[in-house]
Amino acid sequence: MEFPFDTTRLFHLDQDGITVLSGKDFSSYSGVTVSNKFGARGTTNAKSAGSAIEQIALMVDRMGDASSKAQQLPQTITTMGRFAGTNQRLYLKVDKNTVQGLLKVGERTIFYRDFTGKCKELNPVCVLDFYVHESLQRMGIGNLLFMNMLKHERVLPNKLAYDRPSPKLLKFLAKHYDLVNYVPQNNNFVIYEAYWKVRSADAELRDP
Ligand code: ACO
Repeated sequence: MEFPFDTTRLFHLDQDGITVLSGKDFSSYSGVTVSNKFGARGTTNAKSAGSAIEQIALMVDRMGDASSKAQQLPQTITTMGRFAGTNQRLYLKVDKNTVQGLLKVGERTIFYRDFTGKCKELNPVCVLDFYVHESLQRMGIGNLLFMNMLKHERVLPNKLAYDRPSPKLLKFLAKHYDLVNYVPQNNNFVIYEAYWKVRSADAELRDP
């Protein structure tokens, strides 16, 4: 997705062109400022995006909007207004004047019912939004973002929960991480059976 400015100069990027934003770092992004710039689906206006924070907000809003459209969701789930001040993390892959992909994660309390009907309360890191621009899908960018996130979050793919995963994400997880089997939940989060089978030292710390 193209923008009328160099997206790379706004961030500290790793060698793959990926940056991680923390919602807490944008706490000063006030609702008043945001609401003045909101468009029809809660997106900022390109013409008014002048400062660095406004340009970052424009990128997040536009990519969040495209992601929700790609998933045919009734409303946009990722906007700077919703992200700012939260403890969520947003991974962006940028190049020149474009944003290629977005991946948002954050902790959620989930009540998980196993196949026997027994209920457990969990607090895993969840994949909340994941999108690679249509022109770049199936070229490895999604997995680059995903691997970067795993490293930064110090978590294994089977220890994550996935919020309402799309058919493309289910195939992505089966292909790259051999994640296939899960017990469907009423809350639409997917926790794979492998969540219970493999425990890493990091996972023990998060979910003792
Ligand atoms: N049809 C079927 N499988 C697909 C498709 C597709 N159109 N696109 C990606 N995949 C899966 C396949 O397993 C594919 O492997 P293959 O080409 O050998 O069949 C694999 O992903 C490709 O891996 P990457 O290239 O690393 O993934 P990509 O860069 O395409 O990113 C993503 C994956 C983010 C799911 C991307 O396809 C996308 O943005 N899809 C539209 C939005 C979406 O559905 N996002 C997930 C929402 S659910 C949530 O966020 C919790």
